[in-house]
Amino acid sequence: MNNFEFYNPVKIIFGKDQLVKLADNIPENKKILMIYGGGSILKNGVYDAIKEVLNSYTVLEFNGIEPNPRYETAMKAVELIKSEKIDFLLAVGGGSVIDATKFIAAAALFNEGDPWDILDKRNPVNMALPFGVVLTLPATGSEMNSGSVMTREATHEKFAFSSPLTFPVFSFLLPDAAATLPKRQVANGVVDAFMHTMEQYMTFPANAPLQDRFAESILQTLIEEGPKAYANPADYEAMSNLMWSATMALNGLIGCGVPQDWAVHMMGHELTASFGIDHARTLAIIAPSHYKFNFESKKEKLAQYGVRVWGIATGTLDEKAHAAIEKTEAFFHSLGIDTKLSQYTDNYKGTAQNISKRFNDRGWVGLGENRNLKPSDVEKIVEMSY
Ligand code: NZQ
Ligand code: ZN
Repeated sequence: MNNFEFYNPVKIIFGKDQLVKLADNIPENKKILMIYGGGSILKNGVYDAIKEVLNSYTVLEFNGIEPNPRYETAMKAVELIKSEKIDFLLAVGGGSVIDATKFIAAAALFNEGDPWDILDKRNPVNMALPFGVVLTLPATGSEMNSGSVMTREATHEKFAFSSPLTFPVFSFLLPDAAATLPKRQVANGVVDAFMHTMEQYMTFPANAPLQDRFAESILQTLIEEGPKAYANPADYEAMSNLMWSATMALNGLIGCGVPQDWAVHMMGHELTASFGIDHARTLAIIAPSHYKFNFESKKEKLAQYGVRVWGIATGTLDEKAHAAIEKTEAFFHSLGIDTKLSQYTDNYKGTAQNISKRFNDRGWVGLGENRNLKPSDVEKIVEMSY
């Protein structure tokens, strides 16, 4: 096992009828900006519940955060925060609203030039406003991590940042609020959580059996409970298990002391930036090709995953590893998720070359757990995903 540091200060408040505790978690004198998306919270009762419980506070609102949140929109919230002297943010919704709130929290107090530099140049965040989260969509794990992914509409760039200062102070996880999710978003959530686990697990053996078993238990739970939540988002038990699995998949725990990949996410972000494809779907497009292209370096873990997660009992190590990739792709299909780029856009030709050029220009020349995937390899993987 490698050396590691693990720090996660996020307080989790999980379950039904928990929002009554919201005020207990925000200091009395705070002026709050409630940040949300396109209005799903107005339909599922979450907006009303929050307004009621926070009726003794001054609460301003900023809505219209898009899925794949835009830097341009976030900067409008920053202006409002400055003019109204807001000192606490409350993100209400899915990963996009939470990610935007993290960026807004940092950008509002950023004094060292253009806040875009936090994303583009990875300039460090030295201060951020405190914020809490009310989660209505299981998927990203953003509710219990410090990462954020923002898109600049003008340039079709999608970049991530993280900082120890952008952990939520608390996160309410509301499986019952997720009952109103369209099935498509539930499928996205299952696949995103699945791939977060895989990015920290599908590498090479590192003698970290506890982390392996954490990861395998999350994958197995997603395989068992994900389809139930997909079939019926109002199945509270299934949605609860999906939501907690998604949180655990990316709160830092399973990645402690093990090699991590993340190349699937990096390629996937380019597909969202170019074509607007849902984040999880981009992962489902890239992952099977990525595992086939990197078969030799990943086959031991692929076979272990095949045996332990999918119960593949027979065959050589190579056969088990290949079968594991097939099982993974079939699982995505069972959730109504296509795994080829050409099923999402007719304009896919040239995508592989464009992504490889972008990675080259940015100096992203060594991706994956071995830091040896070159832009020319990325080009081949994306081409295999057409
Ligand atoms: O905007 P509203 O009206 O709220 O509607 C949203 C949105 O249209 C809707 N929704 C949310 N909760 C609902 C609901 N609809 C009905 N009932 C509910 N209870 O769902 C739509 C999608 O929401 P979004 O927040 O975009 O989805 P998700 O949580 O999948 O977040 C995706 C974003 O997170 C980033 C992705 O790149 C993408 O931008 N990621 C963030 C990560 C992180 N911070 O750690 C890691 C991930 O790998 C990922 O990159
Ligand atoms: Zn993801």
